[in-house]
This record gives sequence, structure tokens and C-alpha cells, in this order.
Amino acid sequence: MTGPSVPVDLTDVDLFVSGRHLDAFAWLREHRPLHWNEGADGSHFWALTRYEDVHWAYREHASFGSARGAILGGSFRSDDDTAAGRMLVASDLPRHRLLKQQIAPALSAAVVDRVGDQVRILIDKAVGQAVAAGGCDFATEIATELPAGALMVVFGIGHDEAHHLIGLTRRMVGFRDEAFVDTGGDQKLRLAWTQAEIFEFFADLLAQRRRNPADDLVTLLLNARVNGRRMSEEDIFYNCMNVAVGGNETSSYTACHGIEALVAAPDQYDLLRRRPEALTGAIEEMLRWSSVNAYVQRVAMRDVERDGHLIRRGDSVTLWNVSANRDPAQFPDADRFDVTRSPNRHLSYGAGIHRCIGAPTAQRELSLLFGALLAAPGRFRLAGTPRRLRSNFILGTTTLPLAVG
Ligand code: HEM
Repeated sequence: MTGPSVPVDLTDVDLFVSGRHLDAFAWLREHRPLHWNEGADGSHFWALTRYEDVHWAYREHASFGSARGAILGGSFRSDDDTAAGRMLVASDLPRHRLLKQQIAPALSAAVVDRVGDQVRILIDKAVGQAVAAGGCDFATEIATELPAGALMVVFGIGHDEAHHLIGLTRRMVGFRDEAFVDTGGDQKLRLAWTQAEIFEFFADLLAQRRRNPADDLVTLLLNARVNGRRMSEEDIFYNCMNVAVGGNETSSYTACHGIEALVAAPDQYDLLRRRPEALTGAIEEMLRWSSVNAYVQRVAMRDVERDGHLIRRGDSVTLWNVSANRDPAQFPDADRFDVTRSPNRHLSYGAGIHRCIGAPTAQRELSLLFGALLAAPGRFRLAGTPRRLRSNFILGTTTLPLAVG
């Protein structure tokens, strides 16, 4: 490859929107696997890009802490982040274990079954409408029904409320994208405002659940005890927001990348239509291929040496799933979308103690959706240019025009 402009700046959102990030990561893996990134926005952080290093850092949770939040500077998450230690994804042991014990029952196998029942209803309708109309914007008319079904069950809310909440988390994750927010003005303020709106949503729900308890996450957290004490309302809001943000963008954007990859590789699409039993493996490949959660951030809690580099206590360290998942040292022919790839130990859900708690939910949503798409009469094909989310954290597609027939 010719090589990207050096030094690579992973805070450059255009790099991701244009798709050039994959070349940049290939270069980094080869030449600077432990890259000290000096961002144009003034940020400094280590970027780990090889599979082996990313996997290692995930498991070193005693050296690399999560309390500063998974998202790099440029967001409102920082040292003084009020979520630190309170939100599952932004907590370290032992509190992480205690929080996870409380939240896990809301995403149990029985809940996954109920989510599946709800999602099936929504996608049968959405796919049926797309087929009848001869096409759709897959990103907004079909993919968003995955998180909608999950929210309806996990929070015991209606379809309209679920879409309202998806709209709010889209604004939070799309805080740099004019498709979701007015990008003028102060970024931190904008994010704080969106968070306040999400908290308001959960405050209303919490008031309802105090009056009428239900079989949902809010009621569960209202009754929870962490270290023998009830959770504060704010801690409940943070963790509800964690589940909502964790699930709203990821599975739907993975679905967009998945269908786009199938449409671009007709041999793989045909193979799946002939052999639906290959779908489970295909979903894994879609997860690897899309790597929607591009990176997670950690902070070094002590000095750590790796490959002749000194990562100092307090340094920000980013673990690039999107690069690890294309590392040829782990995945032969890594840039080929291969629905029969095996083994396929991708890192799209992370690894170690923070590995995605919603993974079984996402697997169910994606299996049901692609089962319905493959069974639909006619094939889906691209009918316009997809539009990418302006983000280096969540690799999303905001518009995906498809035709079917
Ligand atoms: C394709 C879909 C998904 C992807 C790619 C994904 C990705 C991830 C990743 C990479 C992490 C690790 C974060 C870290 O190490 O800092 C994570 C954690 C998490 N995810 Fe997911 N996720 C998906 C679906 C979901 C769903 C459907 C839910 C909820 C319904 C969810 C809720 C969470 C939560 C609460 C955490 C924090 C876990 C912890 O800190 O222990 N995710 N996810």
C-alpha cells in the first residue's frame, strides 16, 4: 500500500467516514503497532492496533482501567466524568462485579427469548413493507427495529417510546453529525444536554415503576442492593443509559454493514440463500467485518512496558477492535468477507470482564433479521449511496437505500 499521511491521526473523523481508516490501520499494524497518537484536537493517547496487543490489553483490567469511560476526549467523558465508577462500562473491580450482578438478570436467556418474539413481529412487518414497496431505507426503516424490540422488552415500553429513546441515543452517539444535531456551538454542552434528556426519559419511567413495578430493568435496579445499599436514582439512570446506548446503535449498524457486505458479495449472498444453516457463522463474520464499536478506551493504572514502549500511569490507551479484526496475523485473507470463516474469534464485543453483556441479545436480533431477509421473496440490492455516521467511535450508516425484487 502507498501508506496514509503520516503521522496518522485517529481523531480525524473524515478518515473513518471515507473508509480510508482500513489502510491507515494496515500501516499502523505493520509499522507502529503501539502508536502514540497526537490528535489535532490536542488529545494524546496510545493506539493498539494488532489483534494480539488489543486482546492482551482487554484482559489486563488490573493495569488498564475503565473508569474514565470508553470514549476518547472530544466527548464530555473525562477525568471529572460523573459516570466514573457508577456506570457498568465505566467501572472497575470490585464495583464492576457488583453492578453486573444487578444488571445481568435484565438480559438473561429468558429475556433474550422475549426480545426475540418482539423483534420477530417488528421485522416481519418492516421487511414485508419493504418488499411490498420494492425498496426501503434499510438504516431507518428496518435496522432500527432491532433495538426497538429490545428496548420494548428490557424497559417494558411501547414502540413509540422505544423510537423516541433511540432518537435520543442517536443524538448522543452522533454528536458530531449534522444528521442528528446542530453541530455549531459547544460540543460538551450539546452532549450534556442530550444526556439530561435521556435522564429525564428514565426519570419519568422510574416514577411510573415506583407506582407500578414491572418485569423490567428499571424495577430491577429500584430493588437492587449494591454493597447492601440501594442504588441512587442517578446511578439507575446511568446504567439504564448504558444499556440503551450499548444496544441502540451497535446491532442496527451491524445489520446495515451486514446487508451491504452481502449485496457487495453475491457469491456469499447466494451461499446463504442456499444454506441457511450457515447463518450463525455469517453473523460472526458480519460482526468482524463491521466492527461497529471501533475502539474502547482504557487508562493505564500503573506504568506498563510493552514492545520497548513505556505506557505511563495515567496515559489513555485505545484498543482498536476495527483494526484487530482485520489483522492478517489472526485472520487469513482478513480483507475478504467470508461467511464460512472459521475460526472467527473477532473482538467486536470486546473481551475480558467488560465483554458485551448484550451479546446474546444482539445475536438473536441479527439472526432473526437475516433469517427474514434471506427468506424474503427477491434479493436486496443497493439503490443509492450509503451515508456514514460522522464518528470514529461508532462506525454507523445513517442512510442505506436498498431495492428489493
Ligand atoms: C452488535 C451489537 C453489539 C456490539 C458490537 C457491542 C459492543 C460492545 C463492546 C465492544 C463492549 C465492551 C466495552 C468495553 O470493553 O469497554 C460492550 C459492552 C457492553 N454492551 Fe455491547 N455491543 C452490542 C450489543 C449490545 C446490546 C444489544 C446491549 C444491550 C441490550 C449492549 C450493552 C452493553 C453493555 C451494558 C456493556 C457494558 C458491559 C460491561 O462493562 O461489563 N450491547 N459492547
